[in-house]
Amino acid sequence: MTSKPTVLVARAIFPEVVDRLRSHFEVEDNPKDIIYTPEQLAQRLQGKQGALTTGSERVDGALLDANPQLRVVSNMAVGYNNFDVPVCTERGVLLTNTPDVLTETTADFGFALMMAAARRMAESEHFLRRGEWTRWSYDMFTGSDVHGATLGILGMGRIGQAIARRGALGFGMRVIYHNRQRLDPSLEAPLRAQYVDKATLMREADHLVLVLPYSASSHHAIGASELALMKPTATLTNVARGGIVDDAALAQALRERRIAAAALDVFEGEPKVHPDLLKVPNVVLTPHIASATVATRKAMANLAADNLIAALTGGQPPSPINPEVLRK
Ligand code: DGY
Repeated sequence: MTSKPTVLVARAIFPEVVDRLRSHFEVEDNPKDIIYTPEQLAQRLQGKQGALTTGSERVDGALLDANPQLRVVSNMAVGYNNFDVPVCTERGVLLTNTPDVLTETTADFGFALMMAAARRMAESEHFLRRGEWTRWSYDMFTGSDVHGATLGILGMGRIGQAIARRGALGFGMRVIYHNRQRLDPSLEAPLRAQYVDKATLMREADHLVLVLPYSASSHHAIGASELALMKPTATLTNVARGGIVDDAALAQALRERRIAAAALDVFEGEPKVHPDLLKVPNVVLTPHIASATVATRKAMANLAADNLIAALTGGQPPSPINPEVLRK
């Protein structure tokens, strides 16, 4: 009898998905959801061929030095900045992620955050909860309109396009975007989306939404000089990754009302949040939950399991990040 491959499920996930994995593998799971240090992760992976990670586990040369037997790492996230892709590829470690299944859910949340910032929902709710609402007044928490405004999108991948669709078709917004590559006109046309350079995007957007992947080249893509280009009435929403925005510079711009408001689901160094952001009222802060609906998180976990099962049982993983490893 051949023994089953062994895998580590590095964080707590849906028990039924762990059970699915158990029908293919010897599984070490983490039901108490302990956050492993890099050393603990390297230790837990000893002798294992596969791992199911979330965006919080770093997979790099040091981890692979300690675990040369590792063959596949499946991220339960679309973003994979926790992976050193070139190193993994060079060492023949297949990496996978969970695109598509979270696109619409994340776009819903990005749009909701943008609306919350524009219409000052969190700020006014806090005011009400503090018992400060004693009368109506004509200019109380006046914000800016979303319908008919200019929606700026930085990073026009699947989620960016889904947000653009909501803005253009649902709210009559003018859509402008900047991306590493301009979209094919056949994709731009139904979104009525116009490609612009980054400075134009910053200057013309009434509501700017960030949906680009994090990498060394997108680190602090939005810093003091970009914020200085924005309209004082503009809002900024980040549902991409912490580190894309210079949080200290953003807190200062918000404090000085150089932009009107922001909405952030992701933070540099999360789960820590820059203390200056916690002090400014005109920012909506949520704990990295843009893809967090039950249905979508289940779909992500199952897709991560599908990838792991296929990769270790000779099948075709649905969403490889470095498919060249499969061809070797
Ligand atoms: C993703 O899928 O990348 C989300 O940010 C959840 O981690």
